[in-house]
Amino acid sequence: MIAGNLYNADICRLMQIDIITVAPELLESPFSHSIMKRAQDKGLLAVRTHNLREWAINKHGQVDDYQYGGGAGMVMMCEPLANAIEHLQKTTTYDEIIYMTPDGKTFNQQTANQLSMKENLLIICGHYKGIDQRIRDLYVTLEISIGDYVLSGGELAAAVVVDSIGRLIPGVLNDETSALFDSFQDNLLAPPVYTRPAEFKGQKVPDILLTGHPVKIEDWRHEQSVQKTTERRPDILRD
Ligand code: ADE
Repeated sequence: MIAGNLYNADICRLMQIDIITVAPELLESPFSHSIMKRAQDKGLLAVRTHNLREWAINKHGQVDDYQYGGGAGMVMMCEPLANAIEHLQKTTTYDEIIYMTPDGKTFNQQTANQLSMKENLLIICGHYKGIDQRIRDLYVTLEISIGDYVLSGGELAAAVVVDSIGRLIPGVLNDETSALFDSFQDNLLAPPVYTRPAEFKGQKVPDILLTGHPVKIEDWRHEQSVQKTTERRPDILRD
């Protein structure tokens, strides 16, 4: 199912996304350009980063410690995380508290659609060996992985998630219907697209796209989508 909000371009509201991180610098650039910048400039999206070290347990900025039971790698401690989360909860009620982790639920367009309908999200970026399990048990409502590989921290993963959600917020894209035709909406990969010139290095734009016949063009695009999805991603293809 395609998210209902994609159709309701007239309902404009602010989505607030708070991100707890030990590396706020990593999140500066992804939200300062292009569509994410436009979303914030239009007052449709507010992304705020919070440096976990503000809640460090000592003046050295400590937020992690050795793991019980031994083993390599540090674990992000309960106290700074709990204090950061509870501080933010004083002024905001979160629809989801998300922890970015490679052992979370694999992110996809359906989850992006669902999250784009929320109002307030809190994202926790892990580092080192991850965060103390008790924070996951006590506060986290959703654990997200962006794929079966391990990043050095959750920040880049959080940027991916926020970008994919942000562009779905009504009013963010210029031509709102364009999100409807993204790959994965309706479980199909997007069809090929062409722009000028009509011929490049002997390769011609398919004739059908030059006919100006909207119904035939739509049918052709759908066929192309089905063919591409069958070849590349039969796992997502619906009957
Ligand atoms: N942190 C480290 N690796 C990650 C991944 N694959 N997805 C989400 N968060 C992560």
